[in-house]
Amino acid sequence: MTNFDQPIDRLGTNSIKWDAFLKTYNEEELLPLWIADMDFKTPPGVLAAYQKLLSEGILGYSEVSDSLYNEIISWENRQHGLSLNREDIFFFSGVLAGVTTAIQALTQPNDTILIHDPVYPPFAAIITNNRRKLVRSRLIEKNHQFMIDFGDLEEKFNKQQIKLMILCNPHNPGGRVWSAAELNQLGKLCKKYNVLVLSDEIHQDLVFPPNHMTSFFNAGEQFSDFSIQFTSMTKTFNLAGIKNSLAFVKNKKLRELLLNKQQENFQQEINTFGLVGMEAAYQSGEAWLNDLLPYLQSNITFTLEYFRTHLPKAVVMEPEATYLLWIDFSAYDFSDSELEERLVHKGKVVLNTGVSYGAGGKQHMRLNVACPRSILEEGLNRIVFALS
Ligand SMILES: Cc1ncc(COP(=O)(O)O)c(C=O)c1O
Repeated sequence: MTNFDQPIDRLGTNSIKWDAFLKTYNEEELLPLWIADMDFKTPPGVLAAYQKLLSEGILGYSEVSDSLYNEIISWENRQHGLSLNREDIFFFSGVLAGVTTAIQALTQPNDTILIHDPVYPPFAAIITNNRRKLVRSRLIEKNHQFMIDFGDLEEKFNKQQIKLMILCNPHNPGGRVWSAAELNQLGKLCKKYNVLVLSDEIHQDLVFPPNHMTSFFNAGEQFSDFSIQFTSMTKTFNLAGIKNSLAFVKNKKLRELLLNKQQENFQQEINTFGLVGMEAAYQSGEAWLNDLLPYLQSNITFTLEYFRTHLPKAVVMEPEATYLLWIDFSAYDFSDSELEERLVHKGKVVLNTGVSYGAGGKQHMRLNVACPRSILEEGLNRIVFALS
């Protein structure tokens, strides 16, 4: 049984989570509960694979092994009911690198791309940095959960010539696991209006029972004809720094376009550490993941209870997946900048600011609870103090 209670000192390790924000905020002793990176050691099987690699001492170019392809195909089939062939699988140095390449391959400058609001901030940045037009569709909040506004989506598909949509499945920051029925309705709309879908499924393995994750490919007949799925083992096994990810493409035409753009950008060679870590994680990480999920769930329950007791005016979304909690602080009547200022400079705790996820994130914050309970409790105490 993995001990997730053991704190690990990450200060001074060039960690974006622990070190980089000190420079931004010019503050000492900040507690970071932000970026989606866990304060737990990666599974022992992954560390052993790296130790073996280093003891051999050779770090030359590597190809993707047959065994890695088999592990990916087997994992995606066992865990997500996908049936993949080797030629469907692309490797990228990160989901965002893959999404960017797909946008370049499948759309032209000035084409319009739709994302939800709120949603993971780099989507908007990638779209505008690549000179595509950005359109957002606001998610509806019902019983403290996000729902897709299908009316709004159809109107935008109909009137704004949307070429492509980026879907976040499960959703970051809300932790929603979109149901098969929701995805089916969404896919049918995309098909009707010829909208391509990039489905970012990086959080696919961090789903809490009884919720059930449906991959976009499996949500309707021939949905893989007009979509690409992206995922990675890096969130699942806390390996984000290896920057390695997968894209699944079944449609031959989409595959050709993606491959051409990947080669044009010379992105087809994959880093050895990524390949080694990935294979070891698939081979040996499942037991670790089975220990991790209940730990995350108990941290979520603890946080919800803590908020109910100490900050009852805050509205916290209970995630169905991910270790990220979306919190509505609007009842406290602080502006976004006041909220951030209080948390950072009074409470000395860092969360992600909600407005960076879109206008729907006004007066919200995103909290990462993937850390030892003692750190989480300290962070929650700091949030209460910040708002007092
Ligand atoms: C939804 C989503 N997509 C992509 C990423 C980043 O993935 P990568 O580091 O593989 O580019 C994250 C990281 O938090 C994420 O939450």
